[in-house]
Amino acid sequence: MATILSVSGSPSATSRTARLLRHLDDRLREQGHDVTPLDVRTLPAEALLGADFGHPAVVGAAALFEEADGVVIGTPVYKAAYSGLLKSLLDLLPQYALTGKTVLPLATGGSTAHVLAIDYALRPVLSSMGAAHIVPGWFTLDKDISPGVDGTLTIAPGTAEALAQVTDTFSRVLGGRTAVLAPTG
Ligand SMILES: Cc1cc2nc3c(=O)[nH]c(=O)nc-3n(C[C@H](O)[C@H](O)[C@H](O)COP(=O)(O)O)c2cc1C
Repeated sequence: MATILSVSGSPSATSRTARLLRHLDDRLREQGHDVTPLDVRTLPAEALLGADFGHPAVVGAAALFEEADGVVIGTPVYKAAYSGLLKSLLDLLPQYALTGKTVLPLATGGSTAHVLAIDYALRPVLSSMGAAHIVPGWFTLDKDISPGVDGTLTIAPGTAEALAQVTDTFSRVLGGRTAVLAPTG
């Protein structure tokens, strides 16, 4: 079992990205992992925008990163890149906050024009923060995610299978890494 932090970088109160992550969190829990959700939008804006490294909420978020074996990073594509909200948190973390961690990058967007945003925008940032292994991610079109009023989530066929596959790969890599790193005897 691994400890996973699942981070949504959407500022939207009705975020499809967050709904998608919470759906995948359940899948990871079913596979035996301990998953903690973190919606960056719930952190105090004055801390994020004022670069308040010592704010308790920022310190708390940094501790969640430190404790995690694996991190899911989800972001909407904004202006052809990841969200500014996500960056505002990443900028307040230690330079190598992802050292030794396995990372699953996910994005949602309105246009396939930016299907590579994970690879050209997000992946280099995660690498610079020391991520040990960034597994293949997935870009999901917003129209393929349909949140129901009753809390259900419908994901378009094809997309659902692709998301399940990248999530299971992340889970498998994490399982292997935590088994290797676990003390024996
Ligand atoms: C300010 C803004 C900028 C956006 N820019 C892009 C973009 O450059 N490329 C794209 O594919 N989608 C873009 N979108 C669409 C969102 O990425 C898409 O609807 C996403 O699923 C929203 O996720 P959320 O509901 O989690 O916030 C933009 C949306 C907003 C509000």
